[in-house]
Amino acid sequence: MIEEANRLDQSLASPKGARGIGTVISYGNTPDIYKFHFVVSNVYDVVKQVKVGKYICVKENGGLVVGQIVNLIKINEYFLNANTLKESKPQINFTSIFPVDQWEYVLGEVNVMGFYPVIEDPGNIGGGHAPPVEKSITPVSPGSIVQAMDLVLLDRFLGFNNISGLNLGSMEIDEIPVKIDLPKLVQKHLAILAMSGAGKSYLVSVFLEEIIKVKSPMPPVIIVDTHGEYTAMFNASRVTERYPHVHVEIVGGSFIQIGTPFLTAGSFFNYMPNMSPVQGRDLMRVFNGLRDGKKKFDIRDLVAALQADEKLGKKTKEALEGWLYQLEQYGMFSTSEFPRVNEILKPNHIVVLDLSGLTSNKQKQIIVDYIASRAFYLRKNRSVPPFLLIIEEAHQFVPQAAAENAIARHTLETIAREGRKFFASLCLISQRPVNLNTTVLSQCNTQIILRVSNPNDLDHIRASSEKITIEALKMISSLPVGSAIIVGSAVNVPVFFKVRAREFMVDGKECGFMEELASFSR
Ligand SMILES: Nc1ncnc2c1ncn2[C@@H]1O[C@H](COP(=O)(O)OP(=O)(O)O)[C@@H](O)[C@H]1O
Ligand SMILES: [Mg+2]
Repeated sequence: MIEEANRLDQSLASPKGARGIGTVISYGNTPDIYKFHFVVSNVYDVVKQVKVGKYICVKENGGLVVGQIVNLIKINEYFLNANTLKESKPQINFTSIFPVDQWEYVLGEVNVMGFYPVIEDPGNIGGGHAPPVEKSITPVSPGSIVQAMDLVLLDRFLGFNNISGLNLGSMEIDEIPVKIDLPKLVQKHLAILAMSGAGKSYLVSVFLEEIIKVKSPMPPVIIVDTHGEYTAMFNASRVTERYPHVHVEIVGGSFIQIGTPFLTAGSFFNYMPNMSPVQGRDLMRVFNGLRDGKKKFDIRDLVAALQADEKLGKKTKEALEGWLYQLEQYGMFSTSEFPRVNEILKPNHIVVLDLSGLTSNKQKQIIVDYIASRAFYLRKNRSVPPFLLIIEEAHQFVPQAAAENAIARHTLETIAREGRKFFASLCLISQRPVNLNTTVLSQCNTQIILRVSNPNDLDHIRASSEKITIEALKMISSLPVGSAIIVGSAVNVPVFFKVRAREFMVDGKECGFMEELASFSR
């Protein structure tokens, strides 16, 4: 703590020129509160430490104005005048006659990221309470010395937690680990967005590796695995051998059972969309009669009770029976649920719901709706601890367009809106952000975006977060696999980083064309 205060003091007190990498100049309309330019003191530094993406700072108003180098411009006054050059003969080698290279200099263009205020009471800096980053409200002064940002201060400035944060990767230029506290990352929901193959599932597996390491205690996690990728990752990694306190359970989609007595009027309206309000009321009367009878029952029992009911008209009976039989065809509406949601939502438990074997979209939707609403209900009653629900292909479950089969949409929207109050967190993953419901996306206060090239998706992402600048958006479209930007409430400013290599999870199901072919010729 004291050491940190000293670092800030050092950064503030460094004498003119000392450790400086350049000097702020008046250039165009800068410095203003958003931008400034500086002349790089030593051109050789350009290779070593003056790089695009690097964080730098300038002492101002007793604190530090922190910025990021966004461009480097080479200038040589000697070659400024088109007329002189036009007159000269092309075969003349200027460098051998005049010391033109001495005229060359490099300008750094800087975007101001924020102001890091002075710590009045250095004793107060401890316990992770770094001073909050403020908006920079006065321009830096021309002539000020530009310094490389002290890495420990940079860590604090960005909002990382170097000690107990989850290690997602590292920043490419400054090479500091991107370590973010779990609550900051998920409490207000997380969205992971990128085109197919950009590294979303890989990032999630890194994220899971880090959650597994959280020992005190690890929050329960449910993963909706639409492609069966995580199933393969966990099987081979034998997590429990390394981390005996962690229970990993993989549940195949065909084994999932829905506890019929736990259903509500809302779920029936969702699963049987053609039901009229009157029919719904009649169904619930019979349903409630069964439930209050305290005996276990499934959908068949419900149908039998409808048939035996004397108040119901023939037509209503036939209609309800027809729809209930359709549900019964899935073979999953049982007397009790499996897995038991109150038992999987325990500290140190990870459950993968592998839906890859299911062909019916409606069945997948019903499962996600059921599990999500049960989990949220139990959480609101405080029957289960704060949890994290990770959903792959989230655009299928919370689509932007009014899709008839989007059964889970209402439940997930509710969790997105109200979940944070109850510490019920969502992590939504999507390769088609444009199809992901805007209301839900804007409730995801932290977004990690890997490469996205589709202009519609980019527009949608930009509309959902005011923190993404046009420059950042341009970079997103050209990111290599495994590189990402994190924006939103988990960090103080948007940060580009490279996702770290996995430690013990392995690649999921996907194998190459040739490997798949070879497996058939054995
Ligand atoms: N950070 C990374 N480091 C190394 N390889 C990666 C990284 N991210 C992705 N990959 C590789 O790229 C491929 C696609 O990644 P994946 O996570 O499946 O993409 P997505 O889920 O976005 O479709 C996988 O083979 C994966 O191993
Ligand atoms: Mg994936």
